[in-house]
Amino acid sequence: MRTKIVAGNWKMNNNKKESKQLIKDLKKSIKKEKLENTRVIVAPTFVNLSSSLKAAKYSKIEVVAQNMHQAKNGAYTGEISADMLKAIGIKTVILGHSERRTYFNETDESLAKKVDAIIENELETIFCFGELLEDRKSENHFAVVESQLKNALFHLEAGAWKSIILAYEPVWAIGTGETASAEQAQEMHAFIRSIIEKKYNKEVADEVSILYGGSVKPANAEEIFSKPDVDGGLIGGAALNVDDFTGIIKAI
Ligand code: PGA
Repeated sequence: MRTKIVAGNWKMNNNKKESKQLIKDLKKSIKKEKLENTRVIVAPTFVNLSSSLKAAKYSKIEVVAQNMHQAKNGAYTGEISADMLKAIGIKTVILGHSERRTYFNETDESLAKKVDAIIENELETIFCFGELLEDRKSENHFAVVESQLKNALFHLEAGAWKSIILAYEPVWAIGTGETASAEQAQEMHAFIRSIIEKKYNKEVADEVSILYGGSVKPANAEEIFSKPDVDGGLIGGAALNVDDFTGIIKAI
């Protein structure tokens, strides 16, 4: 059975005190939830990872990083390596978020190297991808998504896919208040699974969790999560509010 996941990407929000408080509040608000086969994840910014890990101890909440550099170490001012993350207890890293692609020039090719570093270091990634509005309008969205996956992930061996969580995030739906309809999400997720099956096999395709991201809110989460190929969500704005994030977790 595929694991269900609700992950909150905090982006460049919450200082140390705010991060700890949000985790404390979230711990309390999900305490009574059963959450069988379900992971709850938050991604604070780098400087708050250690204190967030401490705050999340003895709870269901997993703390993950928002990015990572592919090199082992060296002259890369401002960057963070896999080893540094592992040394403080991080096991999972978000890669390829559209904001990283747009503002920091990350490409499928550079992301392929980061994914390799994830596998080498026995980490796990939540790998983000998705089409722009113009791709959707010109009905190129399937081709764009297929090429993103091919260029960044399809060089991996089948066995490496146990370390991959996919997050389909149509760029036009991120932080815009506009969501893909549950049908659009399902259609794309089913397509993604079909190309993974074609490249690898049915087992890999069936096992990989595919999250939807883009303006997920408590009001639309249940409908989106009810679709058979949607295994959860990567949440931005709504993850910053404990009631909203809890509402989304309850929807799964
Ligand atoms: P949003 O962000 O929920 O604020 O649209 C989603 C994301 O960036 O992962």
